Amino acid sequence: MSTPIHAQRISVPALRAQKGKEPVVVLTAYTTPVAQAVDPHVDILLVGDSLGMVLYGLESTLPVTLDMMIAHGAAVVRGSRRACVIVDMPFATYQESPAQAYRNSARILAETGCTGVKLEGGAEMANTIRFLTERRIPVMGHIGMMPQSVAAYGGFRVQGKEDDEAKAVLADAVAVAEAGAFTIVIESVVEPLARQITSTVDVPTIGIGASPSCDGQVLVTEDAAGLFSDFTPRFVKRYAELGEDLGAVAQTYAEDVRARRFPGPEHCFGVPKAAALAE
Ligand code: KIV
Repeated sequence: MSTPIHAQRISVPALRAQKGKEPVVVLTAYTTPVAQAVDPHVDILLVGDSLGMVLYGLESTLPVTLDMMIAHGAAVVRGSRRACVIVDMPFATYQESPAQAYRNSARILAETGCTGVKLEGGAEMANTIRFLTERRIPVMGHIGMMPQSVAAYGGFRVQGKEDDEAKAVLADAVAVAEAGAFTIVIESVVEPLARQITSTVDVPTIGIGASPSCDGQVLVTEDAAGLFSDFTPRFVKRYAELGEDLGAVAQTYAEDVRARRFPGPEHCFGVPKAAALAE
């Protein structure tokens, strides 16, 4: 009998227990090879709907569909063994009603094998989060700057600069935590607010453009690897320039092909070994 898919993965209770202890390390993954490379090093692999912009070149996350998230979520589950895999619920697949959210999150869990879902929203989504978590669907919350609300914000905008807005974001965090979310992503809020949220709620906060005091951190892998360079937000740290490396690979390959240096006899079938070695 094969090992059940969740047996050796980091569990939701283990992640909750990291509050105030070991930082929770999160990176995005959308494909099997990236999941394979990143899995041994992180606690959570997030299949973010940012894949719409990063992989598909869309201008926002709004056109991302449930089928896209399910296909990429399943690819990431297949490419990982250790990390807890969380899949984003895309725009308009959960906001209508708790029942709609249950139907679509259940499809995500059943068809990908992931552990839980992430959804954007504060106090207004608390009933939905409660509906899901009471029915044993683990939910990661996402507050602060919520990319699916970009039309309402009129652009990507740091949240919590004004007192009223900061109070509302704090209330969002409390509502989402009380509704049962097992972790909360805090995106692009002023640092003192992210710190205050972290010391207020009893579940781990995962920052992106938030605060070093958060209980964990998330980055888009392609941003950290320098593979997506349309725009680099202030909160990104680039650990490599894989986009440039890939360009260099393509250039050297093109030079080899044009100069007839590649393929060589060693790359061909039916060539006697001696002839291949003589080259
Ligand atoms: O879609 C995504 O990748 C995200 C993270 C940036 C938090 O929501």
